[in-house]
Amino acid sequence: MARLSIDFGTSYCAAAWLSPESGKPEAISFGADEYNNNKYYKFPSALIYAKDQAGNEDVIVGKQAYNQIISGKSCKNVCYKIKSEMRPQVTRQINGSPKRYEQIVADLFKAIKKRASDSCKQDFEEVTITHPANFEYQQLLIDAADIAGWPENKVTLLEEPIAAIYGFSINQQIPDNSGLVVFDYGGGTIDVTYLFKKSNNEFKWFFPPKGESKCGGEYIDLELYRYFCKLAKLEMSDLINYELLNKCRAIKINFSTDQFLTSDRISIGDTIYAISRNKFNELIQIKTDRAIDVLSKVLQECKNQDKTIDYLLLNGGSSKLPIIKESILKLGFNEDQLISFDGEDIAVALGGVAKYIENSQNKTTLKEKENISKLVHNQRVSDLKFKDPIFDNFNFRKKI
Ligand SMILES: Nc1ncnc2c1ncn2[C@@H]1O[C@H](COP(=O)(O)OP(=O)(O)OP(=O)(O)O)[C@@H](O)[C@H]1O
Ligand SMILES: [Mg+2]
Repeated sequence: MARLSIDFGTSYCAAAWLSPESGKPEAISFGADEYNNNKYYKFPSALIYAKDQAGNEDVIVGKQAYNQIISGKSCKNVCYKIKSEMRPQVTRQINGSPKRYEQIVADLFKAIKKRASDSCKQDFEEVTITHPANFEYQQLLIDAADIAGWPENKVTLLEEPIAAIYGFSINQQIPDNSGLVVFDYGGGTIDVTYLFKKSNNEFKWFFPPKGESKCGGEYIDLELYRYFCKLAKLEMSDLINYELLNKCRAIKINFSTDQFLTSDRISIGDTIYAISRNKFNELIQIKTDRAIDVLSKVLQECKNQDKTIDYLLLNGGSSKLPIIKESILKLGFNEDQLISFDGEDIAVALGGVAKYIENSQNKTTLKEKENISKLVHNQRVSDLKFKDPIFDNFNFRKKI
């Protein structure tokens, strides 16, 4: 039975499967340029509930929806950042009728399932869906998957940090007996998790992951958006001007990818506004400081519990912000301790497949996963703390 893995993100989803050709987890492409060169693996978590000519609902999803949203043409009946906004049994007014978030997430899942099935020529009867380690809405995901055609017994949920490590491990060997910090800074949330990798790909958690919502890249874009609205004396209303928001995002990406760029420009109406890198860093600091604070708390907890750290895994689009790396180095890490995934951020989706393969080969790791769930969801840290004698004689590489 074929299984799809979905990394359900605030900004993007990614999906992966076990390719029968390579025998390895592979990311699923959602499209390519005309030469089939630049395939894209990230599916914008965006939907527009349009109506066709007969008045029937026409759900536009992914890149097509995103492109339409940022073109400024449609701002109505748009669902964007749903992972940050969704609540169980809560509805949104869409085309004048209430629609539950379970249904909206299901519409996204259905579209991903369809694209994946077309692209892999495969029916996906089972699914693994990843979610942040600190996450209250597991049931919402299960209900959405059910609506999308995966009944509960075909759905596996997996914590993103675990999936990220498995995804990284496909191409990069993470040594056994390593203390790992997973720093996952995405579009919505920052999630920082400490894990200890024992032998045989077994991971141990000692305290719950720490995280914060609404400080990821989407919220960084909003900080810039507010700044430019004020500068251009534009009224801020509940209806976001996505076209302008997208220009703000482009500024962020420019500063992030070109380290020598000292200033950038944005056009609003007929006017061009400039922004310096210093001003940019100052504006986004309110969000990036929160991410670094979460990391500091995890490091403090490691210190309190005498846990060592060998590597820090940088995951998520917002971890590419130069200010983030600078701040991490200031906390005492050195360059060779930082690991990141080359190319597009697909480690979490790949890890959903890799973890499942391992589970089906080795039932004991399922037990380990149950422990993790208990630890995270019931916060039963004391039950599991220091159970492992390995810490008594381990040769620590670096103590923070
Ligand atoms: N080079 C870059 N520099 C800065 N930010 C970037 C870069 N590339 C992508 N981003 C931002 O990263 C965010 C998306 O990251 P990612 O795909 O990891 O998030 P997500 O998985 O959708 O969200 P989450 O995990 O928080 O639910 C967006 O806000 C995007 O603008
Ligand atoms: Mg993510």
